Amino acid sequence: MCGIVGYIGDKDINSVLMAGLWRLEYRGYDSSGVASVMDGDMDVRKVKGRLMNLQERLADKPLLGNIGIGHTRWATHGEPSDQNAHPQVGCKNQIALVHNGIVENYYTLKEELLKRKHFFKSNTDTEVIAHLIEENYNGNLKESVLKTVSRLEGSYAIAVICTEEPDKIVVYRYGSPLIVGIGKNENLVASDIPALLDHTKDIITMNDGELGIMQKNKVEFFNNEGKKITKEKRTIKWSAESIEKVGFPHYMLKEIHEQPKVIQDNIDLKIKGKEFNFGENFGFSPKELANLSHIIIQACGTSWHAGYIGKYLFEDFARIRTEIDISSEFRYRNPIMDGEPLVMAITQSGETADTLAGLREAKAKFIKILSLVNVRGSTIARESDSTIYLDAGPEIGVASTKAFTSQIFQLYLFSLYLSKLKWTLNDSEINKKIKEIKALPKKMNKILEKENQIQEMAKKFKDSKDFMFIGRGINYPTALEGALKLKEISYIHATGYPAGEMKHGPIALISEGSPVVAIATKSSVYDKMLSNIEELKSRKARVIVIGTEGDKIIKKLGSDVFYIPECTENLSPILVSIPLQLFAYHIAVLNGRDVDRPRNLAKSVTVE
Ligand code: AGP
Repeated sequence: MCGIVGYIGDKDINSVLMAGLWRLEYRGYDSSGVASVMDGDMDVRKVKGRLMNLQERLADKPLLGNIGIGHTRWATHGEPSDQNAHPQVGCKNQIALVHNGIVENYYTLKEELLKRKHFFKSNTDTEVIAHLIEENYNGNLKESVLKTVSRLEGSYAIAVICTEEPDKIVVYRYGSPLIVGIGKNENLVASDIPALLDHTKDIITMNDGELGIMQKNKVEFFNNEGKKITKEKRTIKWSAESIEKVGFPHYMLKEIHEQPKVIQDNIDLKIKGKEFNFGENFGFSPKELANLSHIIIQACGTSWHAGYIGKYLFEDFARIRTEIDISSEFRYRNPIMDGEPLVMAITQSGETADTLAGLREAKAKFIKILSLVNVRGSTIARESDSTIYLDAGPEIGVASTKAFTSQIFQLYLFSLYLSKLKWTLNDSEINKKIKEIKALPKKMNKILEKENQIQEMAKKFKDSKDFMFIGRGINYPTALEGALKLKEISYIHATGYPAGEMKHGPIALISEGSPVVAIATKSSVYDKMLSNIEELKSRKARVIVIGTEGDKIIKKLGSDVFYIPECTENLSPILVSIPLQLFAYHIAVLNGRDVDRPRNLAKSVTVE
């Protein structure tokens, strides 16, 4: 899951490519490179490490020319190094390309090429593509790219330049995202929209099996047979500011603080009096939904945690049986999908390979697909029967925050809608719940105003080596999310458990001073949570309790207590998530971590 960018126009190639790569760094940041063609020569610069290394390299000796491609890498084949960084070239330095994805049959192809005396300079799967295009080159770059991709297996979004055709960039998409930006006297290509917005808001999203030829004043698209195809252009509504830090030290903290507004925007967009409006991409009829036999939710990481919370909401409000599955398991376990199920794909990026494969698995069995997606026009959104958008705005920090609370919001609203269609809740119960939702943004702001309390707690626990997060009922998945947030940005080991499970083993890990975060807000299982906290305290654990304002009991129980405003049990995950996100954030900052670019991770996992 790398970041690709390409430009052809009159602007300085160095600043355009670098600015684009900075906008894509969340996709991978272990090495990077650029290339351009000038006077029949291919000029390639690439370096291991963060983008700053490449920027310094270009400052010393800038690229020449006004056509170029760039790449920021998340290594899959070949460890991060100068050689393995992209662009990769063929033997004659005639072709240079950047690639996002995995060539699964690269080994076989490499064997063939080695037999034909090709010499390889890297350990990457990508270099195979460069050698094949060069070998197939017959004066027509488009033809040689089409001939080459017909031999590839796996996922590959590529951008290619050639010394013999210095007036064009040829791009091809299969399995990984690629978006073309249409400018005036210039055109761009990138893996994601933020890299295009400094130049244009007019974009064309490529589909699998499409090739594009980008020249300064035109872009043409072709299918796998080389036949011309027409593509629809659309204009992005995002503001440039929405992809800036606007004074926050990190995107993650900015996005944590954006959550009240995201929820308010969604309330304004999706609750119309007593009716729900799920947007222009939601097309299921009430009859179809009322007759559903069950729901199967499949997702990854944080989105899976949101899905797990959705299970509690669908079964409680709409009394509809709900299965929850991790996409990388779902796609290979040949799931039973009898009856009239609805398969839901939950994803911020809309490009996660395992979730996409899970969707296609269900689609192949003629199952209805509803997806919850943040990125408009992403692959999962386009391949779903219906989509409810998260309307959270661009989420740049690798650790998902505002998308998570917006996912829970959509699941809450959709379960209320289903309960209406299935008559499992009456109008006054639904209206009461809508009233509670409308009170959320104010309560979220109240929590954010107490951020310093969390910061103080983080100072106490920043040197801990191991954490447990416990919760019950709908806040068990919230505990899982708290543990994931801490793990992924602070690199401290943390595990989430259903609190009732502790005495079946995990409590053996508890010794004097062991830090445990316990979610003990007012709920149907509150008393049970108190007993679990007592069990931990009697083994001298340091229990940080997230509780409900005014709760004097937990004040005596917890070594540290953070209060959230009163709210109903089923809405509490949205409020509880904020102190958990802030706790992870401040511990990571205090440990000097690169919060927005945690090691070994990337924002959108487009390979399996
Ligand atoms: C969450 O903070 C992580 N970035 C990761 O677990 C993420 O939730 C997962 O990769 C799924 O991504 P998606 O929502 O874009 O599909």
